[in-house]
Amino acid sequence: MEYQIQQADGKLGVLIPGMGAVATTFIAGVEAIRKGFSQPVGSLTQMGNIRLGKRTENRYPLIKDFVPLTKLEDIVFGGWDVYSDNMYEAATNAKVLEPMLLAAIKPELEAIKPMEAVFDKSFVKNLDGTNVKKRATKYELAEALMEDIANFKQQHNCSRLVMVWCASTEKYIEQGDVHETIEAFEAGLKNNDERISPSMIYVYAAIKMGVPFANGAPNLTCDIPAIIELAKQNGVAIAGKDFKTGQTLMKTIVAPGLHARALGIRGWFSSNILGNRDGLVLDDPENFKTKEVSKLSVLEEILRPDINPELYGELYHKVRINYYPPHGDNKESWDNIDIFGWLGYQMQIKINFLCRDSILAAPIVLDLALFMDLAQRAGMSGIQEWLSFYFKSPQTAPGLKPEHDIFKQLIKLQNTLRHIMGEDLITHLGLDYYQDLVEAL
Ligand SMILES: NC(=O)c1ccc[n+]([C@@H]2O[C@H](COP(=O)([O-])OP(=O)(O)OC[C@H]3O[C@@H](n4cnc5c(N)ncnc54)[C@H](O)[C@@H]3O)[C@@H](O)[C@H]2O)c1
Repeated sequence: MEYQIQQADGKLGVLIPGMGAVATTFIAGVEAIRKGFSQPVGSLTQMGNIRLGKRTENRYPLIKDFVPLTKLEDIVFGGWDVYSDNMYEAATNAKVLEPMLLAAIKPELEAIKPMEAVFDKSFVKNLDGTNVKKRATKYELAEALMEDIANFKQQHNCSRLVMVWCASTEKYIEQGDVHETIEAFEAGLKNNDERISPSMIYVYAAIKMGVPFANGAPNLTCDIPAIIELAKQNGVAIAGKDFKTGQTLMKTIVAPGLHARALGIRGWFSSNILGNRDGLVLDDPENFKTKEVSKLSVLEEILRPDINPELYGELYHKVRINYYPPHGDNKESWDNIDIFGWLGYQMQIKINFLCRDSILAAPIVLDLALFMDLAQRAGMSGIQEWLSFYFKSPQTAPGLKPEHDIFKQLIKLQNTLRHIMGEDLITHLGLDYYQDLVEAL
């Protein structure tokens, strides 16, 4: 299939439901980078290279020079939050970035004010905001969001939009019949079915408006048949779920390595403390459950105890998150890993990661916004599995197991870029040119 990629002309509006710590760190970061104060460290689209052709050709362009991405100067920001603080106030409250940096971009941040949110306290008990839309039905709320989207596009003269969910994690719900078909979902919107969460109303509105949607939290959101079908029908790209940062990032780096060397794992205990608003929301057991499900699936999929029972059949995996205000956004995680080697002899690995949650998440928001826009311009609609690299719990076609190994995810992402740009895929076999080199000696 030949891809005709539309050029990234004009402005790209990045719309964000949930303008808290992650969103403000992303927005303030892009503003600071545009002014030349800083570098987009951690962003594959901005600082990552991609190999093209044979190793002997020595072609390693930056990804942003290889694929037609929107330039940082052409991004405009908007979004919704249940609190009405502008982005300067919200970034100050989040306490991720230092006041000096925020002061240098204050006018730009103050100009961005969240629109009224679609919010339902039954999905996030620990929050009380007042910047909230009031309508009789969920369907009318979706219509109000569509109006916001259209107005934003016109006011900011955008040629394209993308939406990235950065709002709080909603309580755990399971897929039910209201999520099965577009008809059932729309009927549910009209009769206020309690199983339709706010995030589902946002993604419904986005798809109806032709806006690609990526989900940074572990809520079901776009991972239900009705929304997958709607995305296909409307030719819109969707992706999710739950940004892969911190502890899970480490897990998907370390576990594939142990697995690659056929080392056994008997136990993996993961504990976290964090003190930001995300930590407060996750302190509620119903919201923690959503996160727990997302975090637990990772090891099982990488290690495959079903096909490796001697090495991983006994694996005990536990994840804890505790709210600890003094640490703020500086999350601390501990992993205790009980492994065994030759003849079953036991060893231990301890990982203590003193990370910064939003610093790890912000470049992911940027990359997802730019890649989702690229996918849309390349005519790639439905689930964008090639972006699994960025997610803890990657959304896949129904019935397909997700790929969690970060190195395989990267190969898939890079090969997708080569594929849409008409370059040869790289298998890392290299026998053809290796033989030529040996013969030339
Ligand atoms: N930081 C990370 O490393 C990381 C990693 C993976 C996932 N996440 C997820 O990203 C999300 C954002 O994290 P954060 O640290 O910025 O949290 P945060 O609490 O600072 O920000 C979330 C914001 O969403 C707002 N909100 C809640 N419900 C909303 C709704 N229905 N509509 C609009 N706004 C709403 C809240 O008022 C809050 O300002 C969370 O769901 C978190 O679990 C974060």
